[in-house]
Amino acid sequence: MIGRLNHIGIATPSIDESVAMYRDFMGATSVTEKWAMPEQGVWVCFVNLPNSQIELIEPYGDKSPIHAFLEKNPKGGQHHVCFEVPDIYAARDDMKAKGATVLGEPRIGAHGTPVIFIHPKNMGGVLVELMETPKEAH
Ligand code: CO
Repeated sequence: MIGRLNHIGIATPSIDESVAMYRDFMGATSVTEKWAMPEQGVWVCFVNLPNSQIELIEPYGDKSPIHAFLEKNPKGGQHHVCFEVPDIYAARDDMKAKGATVLGEPRIGAHGTPVIFIHPKNMGGVLVELMETPKEAH
């Protein structure tokens, strides 16, 4: 069921500073503009790598779900990993049937396809995002 690693999500107090770091310190050459996802409470930006992406997420608004993460990790840090699945509803049903705690219902993620999150307690302490593979990508 698990597919390609789509991206690694990294929480940051400042996308602008993180982009500068990936660009100037690590030599990244392809970085998207940042944009707001108010319903998810985040600013998002992608650093494009040859084989994957880094998703930078910064709090948007007072109720952002990543405020708590940044309180524990003031400089930011790895927040989640995202794997592609062919069918998000089948993946949700399968994970629930196996006893996993699925956080929320499928909703449209930063790539425009539906995503769900699996609680870290089911995944060795790692918050896992499952994302339906974009149709045009393969
Ligand atoms: Co993500």
